[in-house]
Amino acid sequence: MRSSVATARRAGAHRKPGPLRRPAALAERVEQAHVLDPVVRRLSDGVVRALPTGPRADALHGVPFGQPAHPALVRLPLGCWMSAVLLDLIPGTGRASRILIGAGLASTVPTAATGLADWSALHTDQQRVGLVHAACQGSAAALFLGSLAVRAGRPGYGRLLSGLGLAVATAGSYLGGHLALRLGAGASHAEPVSHLSGLGWHDLCGIGELPDRRPVRRQLGYLSLLVYRQGPEVSVLSDRCSHLGGPLHQGRIVVERGGACIACPWHGSTFLVADGTVVHGPATARQPAFETRVTADGRVELKPRP
Ligand code: FES
Repeated sequence: MRSSVATARRAGAHRKPGPLRRPAALAERVEQAHVLDPVVRRLSDGVVRALPTGPRADALHGVPFGQPAHPALVRLPLGCWMSAVLLDLIPGTGRASRILIGAGLASTVPTAATGLADWSALHTDQQRVGLVHAACQGSAAALFLGSLAVRAGRPGYGRLLSGLGLAVATAGSYLGGHLALRLGAGASHAEPVSHLSGLGWHDLCGIGELPDRRPVRRQLGYLSLLVYRQGPEVSVLSDRCSHLGGPLHQGRIVVERGGACIACPWHGSTFLVADGTVVHGPATARQPAFETRVTADGRVELKPRP
């Protein structure tokens, strides 16, 4: 009996992925497509040079909105184009279709700008998927542009190009979903501190064990913490950067907005150490922070901030 189960498992292990699994397998192959790396490197370096840390980059990342701007914007071209293709099925709606295609093309500008900004601060496997996603969406835009150009003289050909454009955009959107949902681009990577730390105050260490004005890492159960002492004041953040999980205790201390901030060593996201507020992206989610107090006998205690 046991051997027949093992045989069945082995057979399952070698079974080809079913039709519904194939897109995911294809996307996983794109993750490992090292052949894309020279383009990824050159383009990424160019974007980083053109977009230094500051208000412009922060706006493109979505820092003022508290979440990445790109996922919200991608709905505009896709929604317009899908509506245009549906209207193409209804006689007498040619003008409305043209307006929707034009609106979709116009909305690709902010969509692409925000996407490029986010893409430039990802891991290489994520960037490979992002590059193919962008190539699909760029091709879709070119097909819709062609559709718009030929509609006056050859409406049937224009409708065909729109249909093709929507198909390519849908394939690109699948890769965008893989990037966001499977590879976690855009999601917060900070630890769920309130679930992991338990209720109430926790003893951390003696205040004399903490160096002055130098970030250090301390452990509280499963949680890695960034601890920063300035004289009698102790600030504590989750150590895992909300952008992609970088180790914040290895970052630089800078002063912005009148307070000490920690700049992540991986992509430079900057957080106020006092409460985890995002000062600069690419992170958009606040870094989980802790309330602290020092007891009469010099012990540092902490609990998650609500
Ligand atoms: S991991 Fe990217 S900025 Fe911290």
